[in-house]
Amino acid sequence: MNTNQWDKYAKIFDQGIGDGKEKLHSQYIDPLIFKYLGKKHYGHIADLGCGNGYLLNRLDKYSEKISGLDYSKNLLKIAKNRIKNKTKISLIQCDLEKEILLTNESCNVLIANMLLQYLPTLEAFSKESARVLKKDGILIVIVDHPGHALFSRAQELAGKKDPHFITTGCYFKKEKRLKKSLWGKAVLEYYHRPISSYISSFLSYFKLELIDENTQDGEMPRILGLKFIKDSS
Ligand SMILES: C[S@@+](CC[C@H](N)C(=O)[O-])C[C@H]1O[C@@H](n2cnc3c(N)ncnc32)[C@H](O)[C@@H]1O
Repeated sequence: MNTNQWDKYAKIFDQGIGDGKEKLHSQYIDPLIFKYLGKKHYGHIADLGCGNGYLLNRLDKYSEKISGLDYSKNLLKIAKNRIKNKTKISLIQCDLEKEILLTNESCNVLIANMLLQYLPTLEAFSKESARVLKKDGILIVIVDHPGHALFSRAQELAGKKDPHFITTGCYFKKEKRLKKSLWGKAVLEYYHRPISSYISSFLSYFKLELIDENTQDGEMPRILGLKFIKDSS
């Protein structure tokens, strides 16, 4: 389990995200999550890759029971302070690339909020998501839009490298890349994959219900949102 980059930058991450008022989350990510949740109330929602836990508090009004899972012990420590002993929220440490430490068919909704671009593979995650979701359960996926580096890639091909994107490559190539992240304070590893790869990773167990792409600057894609329903047929 390589938790290094998240344990190392946990404090910087928490300073930037805070209670989720930071622009990317408050204007582009959370509105998609809340749109996908709709006006319903759920028995159990799990926030996979919960980070500093800002979303756990916001899920309070949507669910009876909330679980936050992450592999970074430093981020889980921060999340523990943020949820302030709310008994309906539990925190669980596990490596989500390998397993989701929840029992079979125990969740109504899984939210993978800015997690999957950090998982080298999605096969076990997809299978585990189907295992822990109840019949007709919802899987919400939010990631950096796989096209968010395309403009920089084009600039690089034209001989003007953008120092923000340390490694770029062909849109269709699945690979590990590096970019300046966390408001320019860290270099993080992430795993690029095209949109078709995100979707097809889940189609053995899920049906795609909604897809959203949004932009931060009015032109370049920034966030990709996917809403899947467990295929119980
Ligand atoms: C970009 S942060 C997102 C955190 C939070 N969901 C948010 O949107 O603020 C990525 C999170 O995924 C977690 N993560 C990355 N790889 C993981 C893995 N293999 N297992 C569990 N958590 C992982 C990190 O520890 C970190 O909290």
